[in-house]
Amino acid sequence: MSTIPINTERLPEHIAIIMDGNGRWAKQKGKFRVFGHENGVKAVREVSEGCAELGIKYLTLYAFSTENWNRPKIEINALMSLLVNTIKKETKTLMKNGIKLEAIGDRTMLPIDCRKELEEAIEITKNNTKMTLVLALSYSAKWDIVNATKDIVKRALEGDINLDDVNETLINNTLTTHKYPHPELMVRTSGEHRISNFLLWEIAYSELYFTNVLWPDFRKEHLHEAILDYQNRERRFGKTSEQLA
Ligand code: IPE
Ligand code: IPE
Ligand code: MG
Repeated sequence: MSTIPINTERLPEHIAIIMDGNGRWAKQKGKFRVFGHENGVKAVREVSEGCAELGIKYLTLYAFSTENWNRPKIEINALMSLLVNTIKKETKTLMKNGIKLEAIGDRTMLPIDCRKELEEAIEITKNNTKMTLVLALSYSAKWDIVNATKDIVKRALEGDINLDDVNETLINNTLTTHKYPHPELMVRTSGEHRISNFLLWEIAYSELYFTNVLWPDFRKEHLHEAILDYQNRERRFGKTSEQLA
C-alpha cells in the first residue's frame, strides 16, 4: 500500500467506477453469486464515504447495465431487491455525509418498488451538496446515445434546430449525463479490461485505471491508490509534453 499522500489540489472532480467481480468473489468462497452482490454493498459505502471525505464532487457507479437484463431471472430479482433494500437502508448515511443521490439509465425497466425507493431517496437527498452519487442503473452508453439522437432528430424535424446546430455541445447537453463534468478517472475492478457499454462519450479523455481487486474487497485504500496513480499521469489532450510545461 502506498504511503505517498494524495495531492488534494489535483483531485479528479468526477470518478466513475465499473464495480465488477462480485460473482467471482462469491464463487471463490464456494457461495452463490448473490452473496457477492450482497458483499459489494460494503464497498459501495466505503467508496462513497472515501470520495466524499476527499472532496470528490461526483461519483458514478455502474450498478446494472442494459446487458445485465440478460442474466438469469433469479439473479436479476436478487439484485433488484438488494438494490431496494440498500437504497432504503443507506438514505440515512447519505444524509449524514451530505451526499445527493441521482440516477442515470432506463428507469421504466426497473420493478416498480425499486423505482419508487430510488425516486424517494433522490427526493430526500436532493438538497445535499457535499457530493453527488450517480447510480448507473439499467444504463448503457449506447442507450443514452440512441435517445439523445432521437431527441435531436425530433427537434430538427420540428424546426427547433438546424443541421449546423449539431455539434459536440448539443450532443453533450442531450445526454442524460449532461449535468456532470466528464469523469477524469475511470476505474474497473476484477481484472477485466473493457468498458462494457459504460460512459462511452464521457470517457473520451478519461484516465483509465484497472485493478485485479474484486469489487467486494475494494476499500478506501484501493480508491486512494487509484487516485494516486491518476495524479502521476500526464494529461496531454493531444498536445506535447513541452507545451504543457
Ligand atoms: C458486478 O459483478 C455486478 C454486476 C454486474 C451487477 P458481476 O456479477 O459481474 O461479477 P463477475 O464479473 O461475474 O465476477
Ligand atoms: C459491467 O459488468 C456492468 C456493471 C458493473 C454493472 P459486467 O460483468 O456485466 O460486464 P461484462 O458483461 O463482463 O463485460
Ligand atoms: Mg462481471
